[in-house]
Amino acid sequence: MAPTPQPGIFAAALAEHAYLEFDLRPGAAPRELFAALTAVGEPMPATGAINVVVGVRPSLWEPVVAVDFLAPITGPDGFTMPATQHDAWLWLSGADRTALFDYTRAALGILETVAVAATEVSGWVYHHDRDLTGFIDGTENPTRSEAPSVAVIAAGPAAGCSVALVQQWRHDTDAWEALSVAAQEDVIGRTKADSIELDDDVKPPTSHVARTVVEEDGEELAILRRNTAYGTVRDHGTMFVGFCATQHPLDEMLRRMAGVGDGVRDALTRYTAPLTGAYYVIPPVEALAPYAPEA
Ligand code: HEM
Repeated sequence: MAPTPQPGIFAAALAEHAYLEFDLRPGAAPRELFAALTAVGEPMPATGAINVVVGVRPSLWEPVVAVDFLAPITGPDGFTMPATQHDAWLWLSGADRTALFDYTRAALGILETVAVAATEVSGWVYHHDRDLTGFIDGTENPTRSEAPSVAVIAAGPAAGCSVALVQQWRHDTDAWEALSVAAQEDVIGRTKADSIELDDDVKPPTSHVARTVVEEDGEELAILRRNTAYGTVRDHGTMFVGFCATQHPLDEMLRRMAGVGDGVRDALTRYTAPLTGAYYVIPPVEALAPYAPEA
């Protein structure tokens, strides 16, 4: 039987989200980290109220499916996406903030025996399916039946693994809101109210859609995006979480957004700035199960 991808990758979007990254304590072994990550999801029945997705630094996982985000990505004008790789990633989500808070605290307690929390971000679903630019985010995502083949390695020794790109983007909401709706639509490449793609003859080549639609060998590169809004009234943005069966589409989209190669920088990057950037391998359920604490 094919290994089971972590179900939280595809779970319906719940209202409240917690994202944490961890670094191994000096002397702790990766196997202890895998055990702690596995233990985080264990106390709960599969039908529990919290979705759990755990990821590990690519260089800690065998077989190799991706490389760490070690070098910043810099475009020709100096725009830079920082590389802030950590050893583990935890994405918890739930419908109720209190339940999520309690669960995340318990998870932290387990993980802190072997690792130190390096980042923590609180996310939520803004206006059903919009990001904090006010645009619908996820329109071109694969459908439910397409998503597994886009996001998960289908066969071979790493079958069931997914590669996640995790990037926190802080928005400059004042600058964004100073734009007219028409100017915002040129930045995204879609209409604001109903997310209809602008016609090719009017869609600027700098638009976000123009930069992230990448064709290779006649095929569009596909990823599964699970972004949410994050933050507070004064400091907020988009928690970008993208899954793919291979690292290349994610990496190529980032390079094109920065203008690497052709010098065309994504206009969206003038209104939102990446604060972090890391890749994680999301191992399948069966690969983590052997690390589970004994019942
Ligand atoms: C602040 C960060 C970001 C925001 C606010 C944002 C927002 C959006 C919006 C509003 C759309 C149009 C609707 C849709 O199809 O979902 C979109 C499309 C898309 N974005 Fe982003 N995005 C961000 C970062 C990224 C990053 C970092 C990547 C890739 C690594 C990416 C990849 C894509 C892709 C592949 C599409 C679909 C293009 C298409 O097929 O039409 N986005 N994004």
